[in-house]
Amino acid sequence: MNPVYEKLLKCYESVKARIDFKPEIALILGSGLGDFGETIDVVDTLSYSDIEGFPVSTVPGHKGRYIFGYVNGVPVVCMQGRVHYYEGYPMTDVVLPTRLMKMMGAKVLFLTNASGGLNYDYEAGDFMMITDHIMNFVPSPLIGPNIDEIGLRFPDMSDIYKKDLQDIIRNTAKELNIKLQEGVYIQLTGPNFETPHEVKMCRILGADAAGMSTAAEAVAANHMGMKVCGISCITNLGCGMLDQPLSHEEVQETADRVAVDFKRLITACIINIYNELKK
Ligand code: HPA
Repeated sequence: MNPVYEKLLKCYESVKARIDFKPEIALILGSGLGDFGETIDVVDTLSYSDIEGFPVSTVPGHKGRYIFGYVNGVPVVCMQGRVHYYEGYPMTDVVLPTRLMKMMGAKVLFLTNASGGLNYDYEAGDFMMITDHIMNFVPSPLIGPNIDEIGLRFPDMSDIYKKDLQDIIRNTAKELNIKLQEGVYIQLTGPNFETPHEVKMCRILGADAAGMSTAAEAVAANHMGMKVCGISCITNLGCGMLDQPLSHEEVQETADRVAVDFKRLITACIINIYNELKK
């Protein structure tokens, strides 16, 4: 059997043995949303380290567990802590947790992250709905023998971030009176931030925000037939756009500053998406 699929099935068996919960929406929590768990009526949690063969995050502040529960009655599974490519994992491990959430039953993947704004119209603290992405600077998570059981060898990527979900997110932000930018996300390897010329290059390529996650997860989820949507928290402007160096502390500070609004927006979006999909 395909070793990537074998590992996935093993992890799934390990989850099933512990958890009896069917999520409708899967959520990946980026920086600043780490305490979103407090917004959930938690039914159960599962530490990544308790899942046999599961890649465990090494980033400080990333807790590393699934949370199962309800957001206003909507059954969700949340990843509190994700796996990053820059930690040294192969891309197949980076997307394993995402694939697992689809196997648990989730039909929608809601991605969140912290990212650097490349668009001069953006400012730190803005939220950006992801309309498309560029990820040619990191390997595709689909490289290797295709797992025919979960998706096609050459999957279409023309419509990853679903238009109907974008409409819901746009309307929800309007209802809440929360400013929402819309743009293209570019995934880079990290862990270093970009140089000023790399920032310029990304802008020339058409990207509006840069980060170190998300697009690979979106590709894997789209490959499996999940409906994907995502919002970036613009925690800073890209290197060289302001006359100051960039630090992880700045990213964290901005993410914390806007966390309350980010949580309000995500919560309302989840409820509205669920209600819309039920129709
Ligand atoms: N670049 C890449 N990733 C990031 C940034 C950035 O400026 N800010 C937060 N994550």
